[in-house]
Amino acid sequence: MPLIYNIHLKHGIVLAPMSGYTDWPMRLLCRRYGAELAYTEMISAEGLVMSTKNTLRLLKHPDEDRPLVAQIFTSSPMYGALAAKIIEDQGFEGIDINMGCPVRKVVKKGAGVALMRDPQKALEIVESVISKIRLPVSVKIRAGWDAGSINAPEIAEMLCSSGINTIIVHPRTRTEMYRPGIRWELIGEIKKRVSIPVIASGDIHSQSDVGRIKRLGAEGVMLGRATIGRPWIFMEIMGGNPPGPLEKRDVMLEHLDTLCTTYGERKGVLRMRKYISAYVKGLDGASAFRCKVNSILSAGQLRDHIHQFFNG
Ligand SMILES: Cc1cc2nc3c(=O)[nH]c(=O)nc-3n(C[C@H](O)[C@H](O)[C@H](O)COP(=O)(O)O)c2cc1C
Repeated sequence: MPLIYNIHLKHGIVLAPMSGYTDWPMRLLCRRYGAELAYTEMISAEGLVMSTKNTLRLLKHPDEDRPLVAQIFTSSPMYGALAAKIIEDQGFEGIDINMGCPVRKVVKKGAGVALMRDPQKALEIVESVISKIRLPVSVKIRAGWDAGSINAPEIAEMLCSSGINTIIVHPRTRTEMYRPGIRWELIGEIKKRVSIPVIASGDIHSQSDVGRIKRLGAEGVMLGRATIGRPWIFMEIMGGNPPGPLEKRDVMLEHLDTLCTTYGERKGVLRMRKYISAYVKGLDGASAFRCKVNSILSAGQLRDHIHQFFNG
């Protein structure tokens, strides 16, 4: 396995950054089941430099939440570099620059996937960040802005020459958002042009998906939505059996407790709701359970419902 952020990964199976989901409680669960590397949710470089409370919270993590890469988004080379310095001083394994986020709020500021329409600005941001820090830097891109402007291979090659350590590719355009029909052929094209590790992202759910994508030349694969309410997917992909109902119950209870300790009871319970339907998906009585728990605000009551659901 090649070095990714100066780390020797065994399988190259990592957890994707997902805003609103991959906070440290979720990251720790995924690591327990085999995620070899994780990313913070995306962090505004400007927010970090201005030390806004919500931004600083995204950087906080316990010691065991390593190796960890902090992801920033910005359209400013200066803020990118200042934020990178703050991150470096806090001890992360690397910094990732988001050039894939399709969300309007981010794109309209010229950040995220908007940078794929402005390669010169993308390069300036990367060069500015790299010039200020010694940490390995990666960039996460999409296929391009739309079907008429696919430029992931050119962007990857250009950024590679600026000294980035790794390129992460979610090979859909901005306009394709999350629709089916990933442009996997781009991974092979990028591999022909760059000498750095490539991590592929998008609709990866199984061992056979991982095998297919590795055969295209990607050194790493990134799991996103498939991990929500299913942190054990890493173990399944590496050939292990899924946990039984009691282990699933205990993972849910632990997840709820950690969320409540981190955010306080009300916010923790609300945050847990986002994972609950995924945790029970496919199990008997899931939809009735979902309806019941979606109005609950007390951690104790939610805990009781989880026990009842699994114990019948
Ligand atoms: C709710 C949600 C939040 C996301 N947040 C981020 C983010 O903060 N940074 C990022 O680079 N990608 C983000 N992504 C994209 C994922 O990292 C990933 O590239 C994409 O979901 C495709 O992979 P998947 O099919 O395995 O989910 C997000 C995706 C989702 C669904």
